[in-house]
Amino acid sequence: MSDLKIELKNTNIEDKEIMAYKDQVAKIHKELYLNADDEEEFLGWLKLPTDYDKEEFARIKKVAEKVKNDSDVLVVIGIGGSYLGARVVIEAMNSPFVNSIPDDKARNPKIVFVGNNLNPDYINDVINFIGDRDLSINVISKSGTTTEPAIAFRIFREFLENKYGLAEARSRIYVTTDKEKGALKKLSETEGYETFVIPDNVGGRYSVLTAVGLLPIAVAGINIDKLMLGALYAQNKYADDNLKYNDCYKYAVARNILYTRKKNIELLVDYDPRLHYFIEWWKQLYGESEGKNLKGIFPAGVEFTTDLHSMGQYIQEGKRTLFETVLNIEKSRTDIIIKNDEDNLDGLNYLVGKTLDYVNKKAMEATIEAHVDGDVPNILISMEKLDEENLGQLIYFFELACAMSGKILGVNPFNQPGVEAYKKNMFRLLGKPGYENK
Ligand code: PA5
Repeated sequence: MSDLKIELKNTNIEDKEIMAYKDQVAKIHKELYLNADDEEEFLGWLKLPTDYDKEEFARIKKVAEKVKNDSDVLVVIGIGGSYLGARVVIEAMNSPFVNSIPDDKARNPKIVFVGNNLNPDYINDVINFIGDRDLSINVISKSGTTTEPAIAFRIFREFLENKYGLAEARSRIYVTTDKEKGALKKLSETEGYETFVIPDNVGGRYSVLTAVGLLPIAVAGINIDKLMLGALYAQNKYADDNLKYNDCYKYAVARNILYTRKKNIELLVDYDPRLHYFIEWWKQLYGESEGKNLKGIFPAGVEFTTDLHSMGQYIQEGKRTLFETVLNIEKSRTDIIIKNDEDNLDGLNYLVGKTLDYVNKKAMEATIEAHVDGDVPNILISMEKLDEENLGQLIYFFELACAMSGKILGVNPFNQPGVEAYKKNMFRLLGKPGYENK
């Protein structure tokens, strides 16, 4: 596995400005590690690549094999941190058309995600997609009370019970939730569902390397050992409290410096549609961790070259509050050589012999140059290729950088008090007992 490469040369930040944060970074680093085992601090993710529950990890693999044998579809029910992590890895490692492969040719069950919205058409579309296929359910909710997954679970549990009868339905439901609290835990005990634990000290958006992410990822046929190995590599690599040698912390510092320069929107950019959900996961991680106390960089995302044809104008010439962080996969998984066309009516013969990945890279270089010229600072994060190990590494990199960045900003990167406000209004409008008054 090779290191992620972090380039700050297009940020217009000098080394000495970064190094001015050296002491603060070292202090935060020590605090993070000192409190890593404290249940109250939500820092369990910090040492997960070494301290994960090995017995449960083995059980995840076993259950994944069972689901592969008895199901064409795994319905994964969850939202936010109980959803995006699994989707990141599954989408990054698969073809976007994996769910269109006929069942008799598919190597793994199709994974469908529900409980991440309240739209009835979406749920009905999923039910139609399942048709008479065999299925299992993995419902994931730390609190066990979140409205969207709770409603979806009620619907799909009934679907499963009608299809298989109570006993078999029970054997096809896997619950990932708190080890002792919550409605889902109670329901699992009553019904006898197999359960997996979301550790107390791991918040939703930091939970991809627990059963939350690992069970669906393993069912999708993706190597979770390699994913953990990648994260472990990053855990070791970024354990240095010396900012000079820690690129992860340099990224955290650089974005805080840009923020002090009124660059308060960060665009995470990819040039590979398989990273679409990586951006969604990253947006939650940074938005929920830093957007509080009237502070925080707004995390947004664009996919290039697609969005150059929709958002490119704004990025180039709109309000100068943006900076970009580009995810660069150095080598695409496959490639296509552009062939000669005698007539050359499309004028593309100047590209003969070049590959599509080469053209994509030149588009990236050209865009970085144009945006930097247009006063959009650029951070470049490169990885050799998109595989399990590099994904594990990248996930851990962004989690640790997020914790450091939030602490530098002066917020608690592990809570999310603001997400309750709309829920209270919604419960009042829906007539939930106990929520009658504003
Ligand atoms: O990061 C978080 O804490 C949130 O996004 C939660 O994961 C999300 O709200 C789902 O919560 P729960 O797992 O309790 O259903």
